[in-house]
Amino acid sequence: MPAATLSRRELLAAVAASSLVPAACRNDVAAPPRPPSVAFPLARFPSGVRVTVQVGGHPVEVLRDGTGVTVRSLVCTHQGCEVFWDEQESVYRCPCHDAKYAPDGQVIAGPPPRPLPVRPARIDGERLLVEA
Ligand code: FES
Repeated sequence: MPAATLSRRELLAAVAASSLVPAACRNDVAAPPRPPSVAFPLARFPSGVRVTVQVGGHPVEVLRDGTGVTVRSLVCTHQGCEVFWDEQESVYRCPCHDAKYAPDGQVIAGPPPRPLPVRPARIDGERLLVEA
């Protein structure tokens, strides 16, 4: 069986075409590395108590309940001010432009374009792991 050969022109065309394929479409690109996790002692987060900690230099709220844990960013999605939990109204408030977020992080008033995001987290034994 004769070996297949490419002319110089065909070879250059093949190389050029392969470089035009976006990296996300190629099979030879490894999956992006998972972000490192930040570990906290689970005892620091009593069930039903909102605790603010820093993850990756940003404030997040940790709230445990009977079924698990929610770790929510406390960075306003409008211009990045730190929001706080208003216990009397049961809303998150942003002091910069008077925005309000519902307990699930959805925007209910003000200029923020998106809800407060929930950070990936899991309980691992006696530790809480939060993706940075
Ligand atoms: Fe929060 Fe503008 S920065 S409402």
